[in-house]
Amino acid sequence: MMRKASSKKNIWLGIESSCDDTACAVLLEDENSIEILSNCLYSQIDEHKAWGGVVPELASRAHLEKIVPVLEQALSEAKIGIEDISQIAFTSNPGLVGSLLVGANFAQGLAKDLDIECYGINHLEGHIYSCKSFNQVNQGSDIALIVSGGHTELVLVEPNFKYTSIGKTRDDAAGEAFDKSGKILGLGYPAGAQISKLAKDGNKNFHEFPRALNEANSFDFSFSGLKTAVLRYVQTKGEEFVKEHIADICASLQEAVADILSLKAVNAAKKQGVENLLVCGGVSANYRLRELMAERAEKSGINFTFPSPPLCTDNGAMIAGAAIFRKRVGMLSKNNEVRAWGDLF
Ligand code: KG4
Ligand code: ZN
Repeated sequence: MMRKASSKKNIWLGIESSCDDTACAVLLEDENSIEILSNCLYSQIDEHKAWGGVVPELASRAHLEKIVPVLEQALSEAKIGIEDISQIAFTSNPGLVGSLLVGANFAQGLAKDLDIECYGINHLEGHIYSCKSFNQVNQGSDIALIVSGGHTELVLVEPNFKYTSIGKTRDDAAGEAFDKSGKILGLGYPAGAQISKLAKDGNKNFHEFPRALNEANSFDFSFSGLKTAVLRYVQTKGEEFVKEHIADICASLQEAVADILSLKAVNAAKKQGVENLLVCGGVSANYRLRELMAERAEKSGINFTFPSPPLCTDNGAMIAGAAIFRKRVGMLSKNNEVRAWGDLF
């Protein structure tokens, strides 16, 4: 189907399929604003729950099945037809190879069919732009803390899409620490949101779980020891005790993760002399992390921004958002899709 170049509005389709969320979003761009017309998602949690983690083969199959229905929902909620889309951005890297391939092939095929441009965007850049596209963040330098099930990284973000990694996890990601500890505590997968919900009724000082690499000059993280500490604690105290005190244990565990993340993020901003701190990725939905981050950032005179809840998790809007900002300064090319995160540094 060919589409005539016309005075159509600038409408972006963002596609994200790097892990276990099949996501499509429609954004309306004009000179001064970006409006999210729809941001739809099929979460594959039910497919992976029984296995206690994401199974790559199941993920790519589910993306194949769901990508069309999710796109249809996104178009319907945005009240547009497919021919109204002006350009497409999709996640090109990093992620599960099979899952990425489904999104990339779908995006490129659709773009060809509609005779429009299609651009690959780095997933982590997308997370950073979940803050920068939809909040009032000045476009100077920032420190971004990306915290999800697969990533925990502190990045210096400078103008013109220049990224420098300041520190990252040496083993488990923060979300993984919540998920693995949750499994040990007998909670379902993924456990981050459940731990956070239970923690609201608990005492954060009930037990002091370890904070690894807690030195002022270290910006790396380590969470595998925390998971082992939770295991030892459960083995020592017994299942009955754990059940009885689950809220207190969750609050203490959440405090350990939120404490170390917020401490290092604020220290990184201070050391780099940067005024803006962006916190993004699935774990940025955590209320205690937001509280501690806000408290510590304010004390140090640093602005602190995080995405609205639907933009914390993987989503298509952040991918299109990053593409819009790149295009505005002429730094979006069709070959963008070959860029890996490492190439961006
Ligand atoms: O960014 P995301 O949706 O997917 C990727 O991993 O890329 O992040 C999912 C992670 C999971 O580990 C989940 O347990 C965690 O984010 N998470 C949370 C919360 N909501 C989701 N962790 C702590 N508190 C939450 N409220
Ligand atoms: Zn992600």
